Amino acid sequence: MNICIVGAGYVGITTAAVLSELGHIVYCTDRIASKIARLNKGEIPIYEPGLEELVARGIQNGTLFFDTEVRAHMAACPIVMIAVGTPPRRDGSADMSYLDSVVADLAASIKSHTIVIVKSTVPPGQSDWIESRLHEAGVPEQWVDVVSNPEFLREGTALQDSIHPDRIVIGAKREQASRVVKEMYRSIESEYVLTERIDAEMIKYVSNAFLAIKISFINEIARVCEAFGADVTTVAKGVGLDQRIGPRFLQAGLGYGGSCLPKDINALSYVAGTKGVKLKMLHAARTINRTQLDVYLHKLKQALDGNDQPTIAVWGATFKENTDDTRFSQAIAFMKKLVRQGWKVKAYDPLVSPPIRGVSWSQHPYEAIVGADALVLATGWDELIHADWASVSEQMKGNVVLDGRNLLDSTLLEAAGLRYVGVGRS
Ligand code: UDX
Ligand code: UDX
Repeated sequence: MNICIVGAGYVGITTAAVLSELGHIVYCTDRIASKIARLNKGEIPIYEPGLEELVARGIQNGTLFFDTEVRAHMAACPIVMIAVGTPPRRDGSADMSYLDSVVADLAASIKSHTIVIVKSTVPPGQSDWIESRLHEAGVPEQWVDVVSNPEFLREGTALQDSIHPDRIVIGAKREQASRVVKEMYRSIESEYVLTERIDAEMIKYVSNAFLAIKISFINEIARVCEAFGADVTTVAKGVGLDQRIGPRFLQAGLGYGGSCLPKDINALSYVAGTKGVKLKMLHAARTINRTQLDVYLHKLKQALDGNDQPTIAVWGATFKENTDDTRFSQAIAFMKKLVRQGWKVKAYDPLVSPPIRGVSWSQHPYEAIVGADALVLATGWDELIHADWASVSEQMKGNVVLDGRNLLDSTLLEAAGLRYVGVGRS
């Protein structure tokens, strides 16, 4: 099949590479010409393990192309997949302006039957809106099928999640459109959930909402474990062994960030509000996530024993390990909170060093900790978890290590003369 993908972002590039690997001819478009130029040279503008090789293979096989001419490919391809951003507005609603411009391109381009796949995360009911906008623009009803096909990719494991998904959700009005989209994923083993569009859109939001609630749940439990001297990682292990609960997304820490969970629970709360439904559990999850940073700041102040002019080293800035994405990163939010205390902050991250007022960046983790009164592990990068703690102990001025992801082995740190501080850990 010939497929046009609109938006060469984290989702667009990954999905284009995977579909080209399945043998489709894929035209991945973006309006940023510099991004397209780099992609055509095989340079990947994002960090996603394994993506560079897959893109190179697609370009080499002549099944993957990058272009800015979106309308030409929309007119030529029987399948157009929308993967543009739907970033959050301040009031929590999803900014649909990117989607708006894509719909305008579509309306001007469609000349024969086209399946428009909405891959971007859009509020429930938005696919219907896209369909009505196309009809209003004069696209005959029989020429377009809008299908909701949400992505469940985690950054850092997006290829794995694409090739071995837990489920592929296809929301369509006409059964024929569902069949074509199912055929498009032909050789991917998966559970297929064929639904109405509204169900598919809701599945996406509810999935992310539940993941956020699960994370905030264990972060709140970390607070009560702290009060009783229990160890939340042990409690999470024991609880997670219950098949009905499951072990994943029970890792207490600084909280959730990224370009999806925060925005999706805000958007779901917002649209629910427009229907008069108040989602109290989502509100609680958001509050716990926001105040989790205060829990860590309080622990750090306690450990610093009254030193009110400390130098703090922070390891990790991305919103999670194995990505270069810093959107809504709790690690960066925590650095800014430390700066607001008037403290000196020295940071290191394996991939990024975004300019942050009051934060000085080191290009090497052991440089960042020189003279530091405390070290905070803010993102679970492997190289940081398995640091040379004896060397850390030598280079630091103080000896406090605050484990923002509850991933460090306290016995190793204590053997190196460091003082391990976790949250909710006895
Ligand atoms: C996007 C959505 O943000 C997310 O909600 C959805 O689940 C998957 O798709 P992501 O890939 O992270 O996620 O978006 P982003 O990295 O912002 O990339 C979007 C790309 O679309 C950008 O490169 C932008 O230049 C491009 N774009 C946007 C277009 O090519 N045309 C447009 O009209 C608007
Ligand atoms: C998420 C969803 O997992 C994915 O299905 C959806 O398509 C997009 O949003 P992503 O945002 O890439 O994926 O990362 P994820 O692995 O979900 O982590 C989100 C945040 O939660 C990160 O900041 C991570 O550090 C944090 N997290 C995750 C925890 O704090 N504890 C956990 O146990 C798991």
